[in-house]
Amino acid sequence: MSVSLAGRRIVVSAGPTYEDIDPVRFIGNRSSGKMGFAVAAAAARRGAQVMLIAGPVHLPTPEGVQRIDVRSAQQMRDAVFAQLPADAYIGAAAVADYRPRTPLSGKLKKTGETLALELVRTPDILAELGTHALRPRRLVGFAAETDDIAHYARGKLVRKRLDLIAANRVGQPGSGFESDENALVVYAHDGEQALGPAPKTELADGLLDLVFPD
Ligand code: PMT
Repeated sequence: MSVSLAGRRIVVSAGPTYEDIDPVRFIGNRSSGKMGFAVAAAAARRGAQVMLIAGPVHLPTPEGVQRIDVRSAQQMRDAVFAQLPADAYIGAAAVADYRPRTPLSGKLKKTGETLALELVRTPDILAELGTHALRPRRLVGFAAETDDIAHYARGKLVRKRLDLIAANRVGQPGSGFESDENALVVYAHDGEQALGPAPKTELADGLLDLVFPD
């Protein structure tokens, strides 16, 4: 039987972030928000108080979940930190690692044959949470990888000071971005557990069992 999460306060991020180039263009990614929304819904069903920080997605808010919509990585970071303290943060969002240095106020005009955009790093929300005074007791990341999944996921687990990281393969149908199904390998510091392939709604429950074993 699933452990009740009544009395727990859980912050979940979901979806992509959009980093504006000018008023009509942005840098984004293929995240639909389905994985993060499934986690938020599953936590609410178990009685948790859930705050969902959503990037630009087209999904209805799950029952019993509170939601804040954001656009950029910086906005997502600020919204997440405004929710502290929390018992857990589960970062399912595909946060942009880079943004244009200076978004233009007017539309960028076509000029030469090539165009170079200068990009600068965005805040790493998980890494910042990992060393924050109000670090949630359970800090959970996702890792979207195309190859060498275990190596990169374990690296992020250590570098971002996480408790768990749920790795999924992206770039092929049936898992990762946009799909209703996924397969996860959840890495902890002392072991790993495979979940799925299964619908994201089911995987969300399996993940919560690992985040809150009792
Ligand atoms: O939304 P769907 O279409 O359902 O797809 C689900 C998913 C593939 C987006 C999801 O399962 C997933 O893997 N989410 C994480 C995607 C990602 O950005 O992975 P990453 O390896 O680049 O980042 C690692 C972790 O650091 C993530 O938890 C991310 O939220 C976090 N991060 C990354 C960059 C940043 N600036 N701040 C962060 O907090």
